[in-house]
Amino acid sequence: MRRGDRILWGVATSAFQIEGSLDADGRGKSIWDDFPSDAGETGAIACDHYRRWRGDVDLIAELGANAYRFSIAWPRLLPEGGGRVERRGVDHYSRLIDALLERGIAPVVTLFHWDLPATLDWRERDTAYRFAEYAQLCFDAYSDRVDWWLTINEPWIVGLLGFLHGLHAPGIKGDVRAEVTVFHHLLLAHGLATETYRGDGDIGIALNLCPHYAASDDPADVEATHASDEYVNRWFLDPLYGRGYPEGMRARYEEIVGELDFIEDGDLRTIAAPTGYLGINYYAPRVMQAVPGDAPWPWRVIVPGEWPTTAGFTGGIVSTEAGTPIFPRGLTDLLVRAHRDYGARVMVTENGAVYPEPLHDRRRIEFLRDHVDAVRDAVGQGVDVLGYCHWSLMDNFEWKLGYAQRFGLVHVDYDTQERTIKDSGRYYKELIAG
Ligand code: FCB
Repeated sequence: MRRGDRILWGVATSAFQIEGSLDADGRGKSIWDDFPSDAGETGAIACDHYRRWRGDVDLIAELGANAYRFSIAWPRLLPEGGGRVERRGVDHYSRLIDALLERGIAPVVTLFHWDLPATLDWRERDTAYRFAEYAQLCFDAYSDRVDWWLTINEPWIVGLLGFLHGLHAPGIKGDVRAEVTVFHHLLLAHGLATETYRGDGDIGIALNLCPHYAASDDPADVEATHASDEYVNRWFLDPLYGRGYPEGMRARYEEIVGELDFIEDGDLRTIAAPTGYLGINYYAPRVMQAVPGDAPWPWRVIVPGEWPTTAGFTGGIVSTEAGTPIFPRGLTDLLVRAHRDYGARVMVTENGAVYPEPLHDRRRIEFLRDHVDAVRDAVGQGVDVLGYCHWSLMDNFEWKLGYAQRFGLVHVDYDTQERTIKDSGRYYKELIAG
């Protein structure tokens, strides 16, 4: 099955969050292997998907999805990060791709979803070149069957949580220079891989974008909103679409860490290599308040009890079980902006919520309904939306937050590994069929 004109209705996962079997078939170590969740859990078993993948493909088919966004574990294909190729790893994903295609499910393949080989470090420029080699290996192995590629998942989160907050592997805290260096190397890696792609599918990057709203009409809050938008969104979007790094944010970085001398001649051209689409992961808006003098950035994100009228909303705000405010219109705003400001064709590559109810997850149904409506609104405003992938197919290892935070359309009993479709999964099926 090749790409048609149909919209992709997908479910999303990532390798480390579901696979387990960290020692199987010659896999090398990743930086996440020994980075436990707050509760001390690891991805050693996760959803045991590496062994149960056939059943999981059946599940995806049972949900009626026609797309599956998953990631390839770099350390399975190149156990040392580069050089020697582990065939068993290559063959594993080849079989997965075939099984999906047999069921009419389009693979949407992410090359890097955080499980970096333990031999590598994103602070090193060389890692971007190792990534391009790894990408080439994947293109050679799977391009004949894969139409949708994503290079890097959420570069902002990799730098922010890995090097500023120390919450994600490699767990470094407070290193602003490392953060911005890593952002650059991730974008460079994306550009290098995009330049080498010769297939007839589409390649893009998955950014977690946050629509920004000022907490009040106070000019300081409005300015903080603009500044934070440069930090979270435009630091990635602008260079990807050929505009270089936004000046204001660049100046703010230089004030703290000195010259950004890791940006070499030609890098911005590479980063702006033309892509076929933009992946957007949407979870939450950022409502910004100025906090003059705060380090490293003079602002904070607030969770408003209600939306300021300038954002067009006055109703009360409901949150997911993880405390994330639910604001479907933010997704419409993001999609419209990607289209209007950057001319992007977009795919919603992640969107989902934490709810603990094992099977009768009414709130997830509402969440899904309202966000799909938000996508429809964007389509109505002329945005070219290629698809929507819900996060996640099934409950899984939610990084630092471990197994307690359940995002799945399918419930996983971690004692027995039994999968059960939740009410939201049934609802999604009806929605797709309709
Ligand atoms: C995103 C990640 C994904 C998952 C969801 C909940 O930031 O890409 O792996 O953790 O959040």
